[in-house]
Amino acid sequence: MSHASWTTTLRRIVVTRSVSEDAGCDASLFTWRLSIGVTALVLFIACAGCRQDMADQPHFEPLEASDFFADGQASRPLVPGTVARGHLRIDKAFFEGQENGKPIETYPRQKVAERLRISGDDEQVMARILGRGRERFDIFCAACHDRTGSGQGIVVQRGFPAPPSYHSDRLREAPIGHFYDVITHGLGRMPDYAGQIPPADRWAIVAYVRALQLSQHADVGELSAIDREALQARGATP
Ligand code: HEC
Repeated sequence: MSHASWTTTLRRIVVTRSVSEDAGCDASLFTWRLSIGVTALVLFIACAGCRQDMADQPHFEPLEASDFFADGQASRPLVPGTVARGHLRIDKAFFEGQENGKPIETYPRQKVAERLRISGDDEQVMARILGRGRERFDIFCAACHDRTGSGQGIVVQRGFPAPPSYHSDRLREAPIGHFYDVITHGLGRMPDYAGQIPPADRWAIVAYVRALQLSQHADVGELSAIDREALQARGATP
């Protein structure tokens, strides 16, 4: 049944009933209200139709062909020099670990803290960066390097070429930028982890690698009295 005949029938039934019940002016009032209702309904349906047209305007799908532009493509080429948001990375020290082609020596703590949304005093910030670094190191590096950095991780025990221990003079003296570079670009048989580990996390790992190195090469004199006693109780000699 079409829309028009449906409302006509509805009207007839309602009006006839009202009149037959001798409702008098109530009936005409009802008829009047009903026509307003029907008009509103018709307007609503008409407007809903308009909305459909607007939602489905003429447009091109991504990479669709078009004869409007000379190159036959609907998508326009990027303006030369366009850089995707978040990919500018002109801060070579932070994103490459290098300055003037040399690995950096100073840890970019402030930038790492900002990116990892860490705040607090210097010690709290560094402790949280190290916490994050430890977590990431244990996930991404320990399989080969072992959780202490000895280079005898579980993968190595099953046959993967052993990495050098972090606890050699060469790596203890290597600038921090070198560690960042190794994570970012890989080295020899070690694959790079640029795709898996974002820059701030790489720096957190670098800080933790330094902490690992220190943990195996600290001067006993730097320890607190309690730690020194604990060490002696275990029979360790300085
Ligand atoms: C799949 C095993 C593997 C994983 C995982 C791995 N490495 Fe390595 N890494 C190696 C190997 C093998 C070498 C030795 C590379 C060579 O000299 O050929 C190495 C070397 C290194 C070196 C020494 C570079 C030098 O100057 O000799 C550092 C530092 C290092 N890795 C850091 C890391 C960090 C940090 C991670 C975690 C993000 C990591 N590695 C994850 C296997 C791994």
